Amino acid sequence: MQYFADISRHEQWFAGYAARERAKEMGDATPLDLKTQHTYRVLGNARDIVAGEQFAQPLARACLLAALYHDVARFGQYLQYRTFKDSESCNHGLMGVKILKREKRLDGEKESVRRVALAAVGLHNRFALPSGLPENVRLAARLVRDSDKLDILRIMDTYLSGPKPCRSTVVLNLPDSPDIVGKAVLDAVFSGRVVAYADLRSVNDFRVLLGTWFFDMSFPASRNRFVENGHAIRLLENLPQTAPYGPARDFLLRRLKNKPGDSGRA
Ligand SMILES: [Fe+2]
Repeated sequence: MQYFADISRHEQWFAGYAARERAKEMGDATPLDLKTQHTYRVLGNARDIVAGEQFAQPLARACLLAALYHDVARFGQYLQYRTFKDSESCNHGLMGVKILKREKRLDGEKESVRRVALAAVGLHNRFALPSGLPENVRLAARLVRDSDKLDILRIMDTYLSGPKPCRSTVVLNLPDSPDIVGKAVLDAVFSGRVVAYADLRSVNDFRVLLGTWFFDMSFPASRNRFVENGHAIRLLENLPQTAPYGPARDFLLRRLKNKPGDSGRA
């Protein structure tokens, strides 16, 4: 297992790359530091899920490399465009693939590892994964997406459970008004679907959306982490207990607390 799990050479390169890119920032480098921290947390999540799923070793290694490198393009993206929004700049998944090829980061890896890791980096930020992907690519991409979401959940919990008001860009400029509710948001909850961003009307809707990510977690180990790290539960418990949110809040909390290994899908 040792060879496959040891990606320390890659971690050293990433640390150096992040430091070199950070040094190019003439203003506040905090956004870049947060991306570096996010990377290590996503890698930590990926390690836990890989261990829980007992993947074959080449697939496990591809997953860890994809997790480490999934946001490698965030530095260049921010330095060039001053934003992390792909819609206003570039596709950071595809840009990451270009960087990894240019830097020859995966040239020393077995073909099966390189191909899967590159594909997972390129796919990790897609709204939905295309159908017909090779099984290993699909598993690696889903694992990185789960690991990524788990850390975004942590970040959002930190903001939304912290002092109010929350920075408006963090909550997508949604109003924090308890009486505004997206009906489609509640419908999605009761049919076990992930809420769509387009249906959000308020900050409470956003809390619900984050809770419904549970339905999209691909592995039992991801679902366990989703529940056990407490972030989703805190976000949901902070919803109003009265209608219209109360029943959706209780429905989701029951799903999370009762059956962590079950996606809840019928
Ligand atoms: Fe990303």
